[in-house]
Amino acid sequence: MAPQGYPHTLALRDGTKIQIAILKQEEGKALHAFYRALPEEDRMVLKEDVRLAAWSERFLAKVAEGSIICLVATVEGEVVAEGSLYRTFHGWTRHVGEVRLTVGPAWRRKGLGRALATGLVKIATDLGIEKIIARVVENQVAAFHIFQRLGFMKEAVLHRHVTDLSGTKRDLLILANDVSQIWSTMEAMVMDFEPGGGA
Ligand SMILES: CC(C)(COP(=O)(O)OP(=O)(O)OC[C@H]1O[C@@H](n2cnc3c(N)ncnc32)[C@H](O)[C@@H]1OP(=O)(O)O)[C@@H](O)C(=O)NCCC(=O)NCCS
Repeated sequence: MAPQGYPHTLALRDGTKIQIAILKQEEGKALHAFYRALPEEDRMVLKEDVRLAAWSERFLAKVAEGSIICLVATVEGEVVAEGSLYRTFHGWTRHVGEVRLTVGPAWRRKGLGRALATGLVKIATDLGIEKIIARVVENQVAAFHIFQRLGFMKEAVLHRHVTDLSGTKRDLLILANDVSQIWSTMEAMVMDFEPGGGA
């Protein structure tokens, strides 16, 4: 089932109105243009070279098969931020999703990152994903702040795992949110309201 509530318009802290939508295949070029325009320091934290056409093709193929659910924030057709939920349909970690966020430098500190992350956590729980993770480099203060406020906790630290642009080695934090707790609370509440169930 397609995530509910999209597209919608979001008013940022400064009053700017932004469209938030699930990425459509035909918007692939606009998303790629967004990634190509990112400064090198932002592209360095990404796992793949997002400037390549092959990256864009692989990304869109995963969107088509449903293993990536991508939210894009656009202004007059231009992508200004994206957030994605990555999932697998088989194997040991099929109950786990990963959230990744990128907001264009000119659009930061307006509440967009938090809005995208909140939307993706909601999508993940609606899909029945039980555990959500995010990978954050130790100095990505904004990302850490966003995920912490959403209930993520530091689950692992990979020491000196990332080399930044200046050559400095930094720790990579694996943040996790066990949303199955939310599910069991909701199930208990439903039981309470079912005839014959609970008190
Ligand atoms: C992380 C990122 C997505 C945040 O996006 P954003 O739109 O600027 O985030 P928001 O405006 O929603 O800010 C979220 C919170 O972090 C705080 N924050 C933002 N930038 C900050 C900074 N540089 N230092 C300290 N706090 C900061 C904000 O005050 C806000 O907190 P509040 O809601 O309690 O006031 C963006 O900085 C980015 O794309 N960074 C590069 C990629 C990255 O780090 N991705 C995360 C790994 S998944």
